[in-house]
Amino acid sequence: MIPIAKPLIGQEEIDAVMGVMRSGTIAEGPKTKEFEDAFKAYIGAGHAIAVNSGTAALHVALLAKGIGPGDEVITTPFTFIATANSILFTGAKPVFVDIEPDTFNIDVNRIRDKITKRTKAVIPVDLYGHCAEMKAIMDIAEDHGLAVIEDACQAHGASVDGKKAGSFDIGCFSFYPTKNMTTSEGGMITCNDDDVAEKARMIKSHGSKVRYYHEMLGYNLRMTDISAAIGLAQLKKVDRFNEARIRNAMLLSEKLKDIPGIVTPAIKPGYKHVFHQYTIRVTDEAKLGRDELMGELNHACIGNSIYYPLPIHQQPSFRNIVNGNRYPVSELMSKQVISLPVHPSVTADEIQFMADNIRVVLT
Ligand SMILES: Cc1ncc(COP(=O)(O)O)c(C=O)c1O
Repeated sequence: MIPIAKPLIGQEEIDAVMGVMRSGTIAEGPKTKEFEDAFKAYIGAGHAIAVNSGTAALHVALLAKGIGPGDEVITTPFTFIATANSILFTGAKPVFVDIEPDTFNIDVNRIRDKITKRTKAVIPVDLYGHCAEMKAIMDIAEDHGLAVIEDACQAHGASVDGKKAGSFDIGCFSFYPTKNMTTSEGGMITCNDDDVAEKARMIKSHGSKVRYYHEMLGYNLRMTDISAAIGLAQLKKVDRFNEARIRNAMLLSEKLKDIPGIVTPAIKPGYKHVFHQYTIRVTDEAKLGRDELMGELNHACIGNSIYYPLPIHQQPSFRNIVNGNRYPVSELMSKQVISLPVHPSVTADEIQFMADNIRVVLT
């Protein structure tokens, strides 16, 4: 089986964890600080605040911007549920904007129509490792005084004209094991605003700056030094991991490009796509439907997955929130997309094997 994802844990990560275990500081401590400093330098942000998941990063970022009941936050319905759930956690209302079909990211041309006097923030998602139209989104946000909380959970090292995901306003990252780099569970908030950074630090740790003195309501969403030690070792490798993903993705696109009904991933000029997922579309012109192709891939032991089979506005847990609104591009994409493995462990022979199998069943 060629798995759809595989964390790459080497001796460096094992030694780093053992070092922390022997140090006596196994919860948040000096390794977490070291990881934050290294990560903010990598992203090119003023601050980095470590938390225990990408979901926590989004939740804390929204709270640090003061978002709560009565506020609206614009995002996309074609993302992992955590993006929209984090808005609900604060008591604010998610307002969805449909996506563009080439990158699957929020359609910037439709954002302004959804801005009301209650809108406080936009959460663009850098889906699959390709940044949203961050420059245009920053311009819209500036015109309307909105915060931009970039969900970069799938985009470590992705960039627009050399500027990295997470460096625009506020960035939120996940280090879940399937991601381009991991800490087991873990997350990070990056930002340039000192006030946001200070609030985020308090919110992730019971609202306190000084132990046992609590200035605001907070949670326990801290990262452990065990996770941070893994993260430090992975951060040294993430560019190499990304280059291997990009190499595999380019090779696979080349081999799939003339198969009728297959649309290979788009990369906008100036964008660095880090292929957290390599996602093709299977359109009506294809000889088999998407789900039939999945069956063939499973049969050939080629890992595959659908991110995401049901857009958020159609999830039962969101039915009362969206009032029947429809987002046709997201709905169509959820029926056409299929992701294939391009992670760093996938070899050129395996790419050839995948392409040959797809060609045989679709031509
Ligand atoms: C786009 C997106 N947002 C948020 C998250 C949440 O991250 P985590 O699973 O670390 O809580 C993920 C991770 O799965 C994600 O892919």
